[in-house]
Amino acid sequence: MDGQVDQATEVANSYRFLMAVKGFESPDWEENPSPANHNEYFALSQPVQLGCSGSAVKCHSGPGGLTQPPDGTMSQFCATCHGNFHTVATDESDGIGSSTNSPFIRHPTDLSLPASGEYAAYTVYNLSAPVARLTVPVASSSTVTPGSDAVMCLSCHVAHASDYPDMLRWDYTSVIAGTGSGVNSGCFVCHSTKN
Ligand code: HEC
Ligand code: HEC
Ligand code: HEC
Repeated sequence: MDGQVDQATEVANSYRFLMAVKGFESPDWEENPSPANHNEYFALSQPVQLGCSGSAVKCHSGPGGLTQPPDGTMSQFCATCHGNFHTVATDESDGIGSSTNSPFIRHPTDLSLPASGEYAAYTVYNLSAPVARLTVPVASSSTVTPGSDAVMCLSCHVAHASDYPDMLRWDYTSVIAGTGSGVNSGCFVCHSTKN
């Protein structure tokens, strides 16, 4: 449904009928996409570990124990099927780790962009690398706020088929650090000094 979803207690009041997912759907996001007009996604500032054992947060919180994203973020939604794929940054020793572990195996999601360094330059919403918000807004906005807005699965992927391998938003083979090749697109929207 169009508009803001910040409750998402059933399919009918969830973002785009994705059970328990929160977000904002612009009425004409497909016809007139722009930095100011787009869907808005919900995220956490720090990821939680999803899983079925130990201290992991379980996904079976829906009616009848059905699977749903426990906090309603888009990245958790993807992770209900893609397991621990990218939800937390993992290091090779424990396979879990915190967002600050480095090197990680998968890119972190549900993590706020730092307000410093190269990330601080991302201030105008870029459709080639969208961010998610910590609060579902009542309207879409062209402003990006490092320190708050977060990276998510849909920062790099689209939800369904794309023109590029791995359902990416761009051709990853042309995103080459240090060459000036990917000006203001792909990874370099956030990693603004790596181009
Ligand atoms: C209901 C389960 C489910 C959910 C939810 C889900 N996926 Fe998938 N995804 C799949 C399956 C199944 C495949 C195909 C796996 C295969 O072909 O081996 C797949 C494949 C993919 C691929 C690989 C595409 C390729 O070209 O190889 C990507 C990337 C992906 N999903 C991303 C996402 C993202 C991002 C989200 C959230 C917006 C998401 N998925 C949500 C089940 C799911
Ligand atoms: C920072 C960008 C970025 C984010 C964020 C991201 N991915 Fe990916 N993802 C990639 C790239 C790049 C590849 C292709 C890797 C390769 O070709 O080696 C990929 C590949 C994949 C694949 C295909 C793996 C395969 O073996 O074919 C899946 C599935 C996937 N991502 C799911 C997700 C899910 C789910 C999330 C969120 C939890 C996510 N990604 C977040 C960049 C990202
Ligand atoms: C939407 C913003 C965004 C996009 C797009 C993005 N990243 Fe990131 N990236 C982040 C954030 C946020 C961090 C974590 C920064 C932190 O916590 O210090 C990060 C961290 C990293 C790190 C670890 C850096 C370090 O200092 O430890 C690498 C490597 C990385 N990203 C690679 C990529 C690649 C490759 C792509 C494109 C496939 C990509 N990123 C796209 C936001 C993004």
